[in-house]
Formats: sequence, C-alpha cells, structure tokens
Amino acid sequence: MSNKFNDFMHLTFHGKLRVITLQGQLLKTFILYKGFFKKAGKNFRLNSPLRLYNPHNITIGNDVTINHLGWLLTLQIDSNIPELVIDDGAAIGNFCHITCVKKVYIGKNVLAADRIYISDNLHGYEDITTPIAKQKVKFKGEVSIGENSWIGENVSIIGCKVGRHCVIGANSVVTKDIPDYSIAAGIPAKVIKRYDIQAGKWVSVKSEKGKEGIEA
Ligand SMILES: CC(C)(COP(=O)(O)OP(=O)(O)OC[C@H]1O[C@@H](n2cnc3c(N)ncnc32)[C@H](O)[C@@H]1OP(=O)(O)O)[C@@H](O)C(=O)NCCC(=O)NCCS
Repeated sequence: MSNKFNDFMHLTFHGKLRVITLQGQLLKTFILYKGFFKKAGKNFRLNSPLRLYNPHNITIGNDVTINHLGWLLTLQIDSNIPELVIDDGAAIGNFCHITCVKKVYIGKNVLAADRIYISDNLHGYEDITTPIAKQKVKFKGEVSIGENSWIGENVSIIGCKVGRHCVIGANSVVTKDIPDYSIAAGIPAKVIKRYDIQAGKWVSVKSEKGKEGIEA
C-alpha cells in the first residue's frame, strides 16, 4: 500500500544549506542525498521528515534505514571535524536524536528502536550566571556502537562505547562502556547478562555473583 506520508519528503538542512522541501519518491534515494552527505552508500532509506544539521560531516552506509522525524546534528566546536558514521545495514527507529562534535560511530547492522538519543557531547553548565542554552557545547567522549547490537526503545548513549552484539534494555541511560556480548539495562546502565563463550549461552551476572558469594 502506498504511503502518502512516506512519499512526501521534507528535509530541513541547517548550517551551510537552507530549508529544502521536495515531493516525490524518486528523489528520496541517493540521487538527492549523495551531494549533501560526506558519503552515502546504496539503497539507504531516510524517511521524512528528517532534520539534518551540517550533513557534510555525516556518512551513511549501504542499506541504512532511519525512520521518521529523526534529527542528525554535527557541530564543529574546535579544530576537530566531526565524524558521524552510520554503517551498512543499520536500522534506526522514529524520533532518533543523534549529535556529534567529534566522533559517533553506529556499527554495521545495529538495530535501534524509537526515541534513541546518542551523543558525544554535553551542553556546558558550569557557569551559573549564563543560561545553559547559551553555554558552549563540550565534548564528552567518543561514541561507538558495535556491529549487530540492539538498542532498545528510549535509550540514551552519552559519551561512551557499546560493544558488538550487545543489547541495551528499553529506557536505559548508558554513560560507561559496555563490553562485547553483554546485555545492559537501567539508569545508569549496568551489565545484567553476558555471553559465556565456553558454556555457549547467555548467563545472568546476578547468578554469577551469587555463585561467587556461596563459594567464597
Ligand atoms: C533487555 C531485554 C532484552 C532483556 O530481556 P531478557 O533477556 O528476557 O531479560 P530478563 O527478563 O531475564 O531480565 C533480566 C533482569 O534484567 C531486568 N531488566 C530487563 N530489562 C530491563 C530494562 N529495560 N531496564 C531495567 N531492567 C531490566 C529484569 O527485570 C531482570 O531483573 P531481575 O533479575 O532482578 O529479575 C529486555 O528487557 C528489553 O529491554 N528489551 C528491549 C525492548 C525494546 O525496546 N524493543 C524495541 C523494539 S526494536
């Protein structure tokens, strides 16, 4: 079934580019986008409306999907040119908010649900005589999300790294690195399960701690 909302493309560019509103399925593919992004692969699908700020620092891989009402922003705050990469096969839900001042990497085949927030930066808040909105944005830490990971609904990942084949539970706030093959959840997110390669299964960190307690 054709989806009229999908067919209407509304892109809002800031920075070097001005507002562009276009209609038509054809232009929805790389024919339009290729010129704006730093690099763009094949068969990606960016559903409109999509808000982009300085897309010339953004790389979109092959077969990437971003659902409606996303906001991708890069901002140069020092000599570093921001580098936001969404690698091949990544699929991101509605209402994503991804901001980058230095480096944000979303790995191959990452699956992200709706309302994710991913950022390598913070608003400065130190000066109590200046509104936070007027204080400089500052770098917090590089973000990377390892390949094949799954990011649940409403998750924030701020200035840290998530390993490969990880799961981040719904509503989590991740502020510290999460190792490969882990399930993490909560605020702040903590590892709740990890993959035991020798046993060939996921094990609860809680039960491991319990065992250690009994043995000790
Ligand atoms: C993280 C998740 C995958 C874990 O599923 P699971 O492996 O079946 O985990 P369990 O239900 O065995 O839970 C293990 C423990 O973690 C807790 N837990 C699970 N998910 C949690 C979450 N999102 N936040 C906080 N704690 C969570 C459980 O309460 C349980 O705690 P307990 O040991 O004290 O009882 C799942 O809970 C989740 O959040 N999925 C994301 C769903 C989503 O966002 N989907 C979007 C569609 S793409």
